[in-house]
Amino acid sequence: VFPSAAVASQSVAAEIADLIRTKSARGETAVLGLATGSTPTRVYDELIRMHREEGLSFKNVVTFNLDEYYPMKPDELQSYVRFMREHLFDHIDIPRGNWNVPDGTLPREQVFDYCAAYERKIKDLGGLDIQILGIGRTGHVGFNEPGSSRDSRTRMITLDKVTRMDAASDFFGEQNVPRKAITMGVDTIMNARRVILMAWGEGKAPTIRRAVEGEVTTAVAASFLQQHASAKIVLDTAAAAELT
Ligand code: F6R
Repeated sequence: VFPSAAVASQSVAAEIADLIRTKSARGETAVLGLATGSTPTRVYDELIRMHREEGLSFKNVVTFNLDEYYPMKPDELQSYVRFMREHLFDHIDIPRGNWNVPDGTLPREQVFDYCAAYERKIKDLGGLDIQILGIGRTGHVGFNEPGSSRDSRTRMITLDKVTRMDAASDFFGEQNVPRKAITMGVDTIMNARRVILMAWGEGKAPTIRRAVEGEVTTAVAASFLQQHASAKIVLDTAAAAELT
């Protein structure tokens, strides 16, 4: 638990930078799992700062984002491709071929094979070194809504009503929020060597309590992280307020 989201984000960014430097020094690729939304933006700001001021290079980094709305074109306002470009990729030296965000433009019948290929690509690179996560009001990580099983993998999912309500302002009305998304699964996330889940603000406190101290259940996907060998929950004091 950190006194503020700003300080907490710096600590998460430092851990990511450490991994990148260590692996790059060995000539290895760092494989990162990334999230969108309001939670990780200060981590990305700090990584950009380290790139500009400290020479942190992303040439040996490959990234996989958790999710994307479906359907969604990459240049649309709410696209997670656009989000990642604006908040990170366009400001660092990561090669264009090294970042991956699920493709929201595919015809429906190609999605199944595409998701299997996304999984394979992660595996072929040796797996995710660090997966960073935010958490939604439904307890989702990625878009693993209630009902997502422990062994779920990258797939198309139907978004929960609560998640669509929370996204309504981004889409200028709930009716415009896509009903579907492509998301990494719980098992995809659990296979990462390290997981860092972040949450800021009092609005997240009840969900954090259920995820961290509640029973491990498909009703709260984040609760599965209790069974991960190396998962860290990084909070500000407000998000930690309901923990006993
Ligand atoms: C985003 C994602 C979601 C968000 C979660 C919290 O890629 O996978 O699980 O992390 O909905 O969103 P924010 O950070 O906007 O509160």
